[in-house]
Amino acid sequence: MNSNKENSRRQFLRNTALASLSAGFIPVIGSAAAPDNASGGCDPTTLDAYGQGPFYTANAPTLTDNQLALANEPGTRLVISGVVRTLDCSLVIPNTLIDVWHANDAGAYDTVGYNLRGITYSNAQGFYIFETILPGKYLNGASYRPRHIHFRITPPGFPTLITQLYFEGDTDIAGDAAASVTSGTYDATKRIIPLTLNAENKYEGTWDIVVNGSATTALPDLHLDKGMLYQATPNPFSTVVQIHYGIFEPAQVALQIFDIRGALMATLDEQYLTPQKYVAIWHPDRMLPAGVYFIALRINDLQVHYVKTMKI
Ligand SMILES: [Fe+2]
Repeated sequence: MNSNKENSRRQFLRNTALASLSAGFIPVIGSAAAPDNASGGCDPTTLDAYGQGPFYTANAPTLTDNQLALANEPGTRLVISGVVRTLDCSLVIPNTLIDVWHANDAGAYDTVGYNLRGITYSNAQGFYIFETILPGKYLNGASYRPRHIHFRITPPGFPTLITQLYFEGDTDIAGDAAASVTSGTYDATKRIIPLTLNAENKYEGTWDIVVNGSATTALPDLHLDKGMLYQATPNPFSTVVQIHYGIFEPAQVALQIFDIRGALMATLDEQYLTPQKYVAIWHPDRMLPAGVYFIALRINDLQVHYVKTMKI
């Protein structure tokens, strides 16, 4: 531990795109341990019992700046993001086509044009993100369908997965024939995600997609049994970020920071670390553009975990 404390006083940053980023590794009190479900907990994304529904329109446009809803679209802003993974969660899948559509704030679909319809792609690290508005509810027979977003997800060269995403706390989930399914092929439980309100008054949700596809990013297996990121704080940030993480076995460790396009913005230099909790301090350059960034934990050259953070 003493050697780590010595090391913590050094600056470990290897600059890439930005000149004055800085960081340090700081061991913190407390032992780190792999979560109980470290080697499990990988659930392939399920189909939705309602399939794609009656409102799909082919040939939607590709999103510009990850915006599914125009700035003047009525409703509550919502940001959805995550990572596309292979069926055993061991690899990320770049360039997966993600075709998204949903109802507007009033519960109506655009059946003429492409409002609230669009295509995005997972980036080189398998990350995807889009901003839209919280979908409205609409009647399905005598009851309202819960708020939901439709997805057609196509890894390059693989079949399309058609499903829907719901939100925790929606009182219409229990009465919905698709959202209430809790087992089997159409199990919706992992497709009901929590939303949190961020500092920009936008709801945010994280949804990792696990599909039958082939990864082109060379990331071998093993993830949370080696280490994990606990949080990046504050989030959003403006001047400094504390990155809390744990290492579960002695290893070469590095933190890498990517922008939403998958470009490497910074690497916190590799360091041999012993199993415990650490905090890395990142001082981004003031010129770092506002937006979403992904912090990835690399252990022995495996990208084992990531957290999303936002600069404002
Ligand atoms: Fe729908």
